[in-house]
Amino acid sequence: MSTIRTIGVIGAGQMGAGIAQVSAQAGYQTLLFDSVKAAQEKGMASIAAQLDKAVGKGKLADADRQKTLGILKGTASMSDLAGCDLVIEAIIENIEVKTKVFAELDTIVKPEGILASNTSSIAITKIAAATKRPSQVMGMHFMNPVPVMKLVELIRGLQTSDRTYETCREVCEKMGKTTVLAIDNAGFVVNRILVPMINEAIFVLQEGVKPEDIDNAMKLGTNQPMGPLELADFVGLDTLLYILHVLHDELGEDKYRPCPLLIRYVEAGWYGRKSGRGFYQYS
Ligand code: CAA
Ligand code: NAD
Repeated sequence: MSTIRTIGVIGAGQMGAGIAQVSAQAGYQTLLFDSVKAAQEKGMASIAAQLDKAVGKGKLADADRQKTLGILKGTASMSDLAGCDLVIEAIIENIEVKTKVFAELDTIVKPEGILASNTSSIAITKIAAATKRPSQVMGMHFMNPVPVMKLVELIRGLQTSDRTYETCREVCEKMGKTTVLAIDNAGFVVNRILVPMINEAIFVLQEGVKPEDIDNAMKLGTNQPMGPLELADFVGLDTLLYILHVLHDELGEDKYRPCPLLIRYVEAGWYGRKSGRGFYQYS
């Protein structure tokens, strides 16, 4: 039987807010923390807006919306996560920042607590090594948008215990997700395959094909719901570049080198939807 009652989420961006929403909707007491107060407030507001929308569409009972909001709280202090049974980290995809946060979490969260990362690409063994509890560290890779996408990739580090894995798998099931067990290698399964495809689309753009033509080709020609450049803007170009660096550094092959045009866009602060401009413009 699962021992998880309280879940902490670190990072209230698009992924953290989505994870906090599905956590509270699954009945877990949920705490959402972000180091930037405005981001934490924006994350909480986006969850309330999603729940309102679902009630408006008749897909969620108002009583369930109230119940979800009643067990979901925002916090401006990481130390408030001390009593959590499971903490899921969803901050930027930067190895130095993530390992620093895990080292800090290790000193804050009760000894029996599980620490999970929503990393898109970084080896869980490496993240676990920043803590003194590597057997209780797990990869839980949710997909964007979290409330809609069915998959969670589960990743075991070398030292992750069976109990930690089983507990995280149960939590995902309670959230209504389907899990696959991936490998603890850069990019796991989904991003090992998806991100090189998106990178290749950016090379095609760099060679002069219009963004709309690239996206229409892939949508109409391969039945994908979003074209690769639309999806890149949706995921965040900063995140994609981080993932490509991890794939390239770790796996070492030229096929993973980030397209120079992607690097230029990130240098320009064109991160996609979240910054108002990427391969497309957003109001
Ligand atoms: N948050 C919550 N719900 C959302 C949402 C969001 N950001 N965006 C859309 N939805 C919901 C809508 O409310 C709607 O719900 P109902 O069916 O209950 O009404 C449903 O999703 C469909 O939305 P729309 O009709 O507005 O739009 P759509 O049919 O075009 O679907 C989409 C939108 C689900 C995002 C679809 O375009 C899609 O599947 N895109 C591809 C997403 C994808 O590939 N995700 C994986 C990214 S890679 C990743 O996550 C890993 C990584 O590490 C980078
Ligand atoms: P985001 O930029 O939308 O949000 C990141 C949030 O983390 C920001 O609100 C930021 O203020 C906060 N943050 C940064 N450093 C922090 C710290 N030290 N302590 C607390 N909060 C901090 O990013 P995102 O798209 O939500 O991605 C978050 C994680 O999820 C990344 O590891 C990413 O690779 C992964 N991921 C992203 C996607 C996607 O499609 N965007 C999908 C799956 C997994």
